[in-house]
Amino acid sequence: MNLTLKIWRQKNASDKGKMVDYKVDDISPDMSFLEMLDVLNEQLINKDDAPIAFDHDCREGICGMCSLYINGEAHGPDRGVTTCQLHMRMFNDGDTIYIEPFRASAFPVVKDLIVDRSSFDRIQHAGGFISVNTSGNTIDANAIPIEKHDADTAFEAATCIGCGACVASCKNSSAMLFVGAKVSQFALLPQGKVEATDRVLNMVKQMDEEGFGNCTNTGACEVECPKGISLENIARMNREYLKASLKG
Ligand code: SF4
Ligand code: FES
Repeated sequence: MNLTLKIWRQKNASDKGKMVDYKVDDISPDMSFLEMLDVLNEQLINKDDAPIAFDHDCREGICGMCSLYINGEAHGPDRGVTTCQLHMRMFNDGDTIYIEPFRASAFPVVKDLIVDRSSFDRIQHAGGFISVNTSGNTIDANAIPIEKHDADTAFEAATCIGCGACVASCKNSSAMLFVGAKVSQFALLPQGKVEATDRVLNMVKQMDEEGFGNCTNTGACEVECPKGISLENIARMNREYLKASLKG
């Protein structure tokens, strides 16, 4: 496949940035999107040009690092996949592909296609954990009976990889699908109930302080989420928040 790429280049956080055109030839349809960018970067390095900076780590849909906005969609045109799992067979020979960073004021661009998603880390630090005594007398988690539906729903919420596609897809740059998943993961389990009140209040407070927008039920986040995180998690977070506010 021969392709034209229009890629966002930005030297650093204060640079204005612009779209730059590139050509890549002989791309295999079996390559991943990131492998296609590797080919382009080899070409650029061989010409003594600066390679395109983009985030990646596991390259198997687990870590949540890859974060490209491809032809106007977070993680590109496929469904239920991250950018590293996106294959070039989703495109046609001769296509022009637009590649941009995730855009949200709470995700400032660091360089080219890399954005700073440490706002998600700070939300997690505000409450996305349980405090457990690890002295050796801890009850084996598997010994605590949990209703099957709750265990499955908590597990589904826990599959959120923190990629930020929900934020990038939302017209309000809302992080409520991410925070909803992180709150739900604990709200459904007995281990999470002890700190439930502080957790939801602190995580929502941090989310607001980071500058994420509110949810207006458009549902773009659920469509673009590579892990199929359901909007039900936002509803559960809202219920948890109401309960915690009344207690507080
Ligand atoms: S909810 Fe989905 S889109 Fe949002 S951070 Fe988690 S995995 Fe990514
Ligand atoms: S590089 Fe880890 S999810 Fe894509």
